[in-house]
Amino acid sequence: MEHLFPQILQINLTTTFMKLLVLFFTILIFIGSFVGCNYSILTTGNNADLDYKMKMSTTEQAKLSYSLINSEILQTKCIGCHGNSGGVNLETYQNVFDNLSKIKTSVFSKKTMPKNNSLTAEQEKMLWNWIELNAPEFAQTPENEPQSEPLTPTYSSIYKNIFESKCISCHSPGNQAERVPLDKQELLDSPLELVLPNNPDESGLVIAVERTDRKRMPPEKEGYAPLKDEEKAAIRKWIADGAIN
Ligand code: HEC
Ligand code: HEC
Repeated sequence: MEHLFPQILQINLTTTFMKLLVLFFTILIFIGSFVGCNYSILTTGNNADLDYKMKMSTTEQAKLSYSLINSEILQTKCIGCHGNSGGVNLETYQNVFDNLSKIKTSVFSKKTMPKNNSLTAEQEKMLWNWIELNAPEFAQTPENEPQSEPLTPTYSSIYKNIFESKCISCHSPGNQAERVPLDKQELLDSPLELVLPNNPDESGLVIAVERTDRKRMPPEKEGYAPLKDEEKAAIRKWIADGAIN
């Protein structure tokens, strides 16, 4: 009987302590989840917490352009509702650019778009990075990108290293310069005298890339830089050597 009393007291003390402990942790978890919640609401608003899981490598980012976003996302997931039927029109680069912040909010923060549909993880990533880069109209052609085939004065090398990335988007069927195809035979046969074998100075192709006025190719007003000296030199040499290979 004598040692029973302190034991009861001890149990009482322990349970009170436990209750306090549980209460303490409950409050802590409650506050914690509240703060966490607020935090994520705030950061999703700026898309800051998406940053690390969405960000593409710079090489991947360099490939992003309006035409890619348009064909991969807008045409398949948005234009059906955002064409000429009233409301937000997303049919041209300018329209998309003007609505960029609304697009960002409705797709990534409010998640209300695309209505009745959703973007794949890949599409989300693409769109998000494109918006983060302030929606470049054209893909970058990185200066130091390793070229699979070295630039030599032959048609195939010129095509692979120059035409494909800097010309074909316009000089192909269905695009603005479709009347001036850049295939080898078409160049040789062109009524515009684009390639006159052994006569680079009078070949329209050389003139087009070497001139410095507004008719220069690729066009400055579309945001293209002039060809590099070694690129111009390769085209010139190919023609000077007879435009054979
Ligand atoms: C099924 C039809 C439908 C599809 C598909 C759709 N939208 Fe919408 N969108 C709407 C309608 C309707 C509204 C206007 C009412 C509203 O905001 O819910 C709207 C509104 C918007 C707005 C304006 C929001 C604002 O704050 O004013 C943007 C931006 C937008 N959509 C972007 C997109 C994008 C980007 C896609 C594709 C990824 C897309 N939508 C796909 C139907 C659609
Ligand atoms: C942004 C679009 C665009 C790009 C990129 C572009 N061109 Fe053109 N180019 C045009 C247009 C438009 C014309 C005029 C077509 C017509 O007359 O129908 C043209 C015309 C030409 C002509 C004919 C000039 C003449 O004598 O009339 C040549 C040659 C040419 N481009 C070469 C190139 C080469 C080479 C590149 C890449 C290094 C290139 N272009 C990139 C749009 C482009």
